[in-house]
Amino acid sequence: MTHEMTVNGVRRSVGADAETSLLHVLREDLGLKGPRFGCGAGLCGACFVLLDGHPTPSCDTPLWAAEGKDVVTVEGLGDLDTPHPLQRAFLDEQAGQCGYCLSGILVSAAALLARNPEPDEREVAEALDRNLCRCGAQRRMIRAVMRAAREDRR
Ligand code: FES
Ligand code: FES
Repeated sequence: MTHEMTVNGVRRSVGADAETSLLHVLREDLGLKGPRFGCGAGLCGACFVLLDGHPTPSCDTPLWAAEGKDVVTVEGLGDLDTPHPLQRAFLDEQAGQCGYCLSGILVSAAALLARNPEPDEREVAEALDRNLCRCGAQRRMIRAVMRAAREDRR
């Protein structure tokens, strides 16, 4: 069966079983390798995408639940030529370690800045609470989000 959704601003039509995970569709059918498979159970944040603007685990979201919705992956935030302020700030602060969690963290942070352009550190920590990073880079990530918020206001 064919399912329609918008992915990173482009209308896409995917022929797959309705119960296929959105993560599988994004990675294997649409070639978007940013979202990662971590726990597979909605607990780690590595696969997070924005679904109608909300950070959502794509690993336990079936394709049918994304029907007609707006999906944004890390690739949709920006690219090398036109990076999102968050992508620039994470590089400037060297906030990533292994990088496995970063795709999910960046989309969670983007959702935060979209609804609250001037967060304090506590609000940033809360917004990233569902995204696990085992490398201990959390302090630098919070600094990077604060920096992106500052630079976006200039
Ligand atoms: S892989 Fe989806 S939340 Fe962990
Ligand atoms: S940078 Fe996130 S798990 Fe390592």
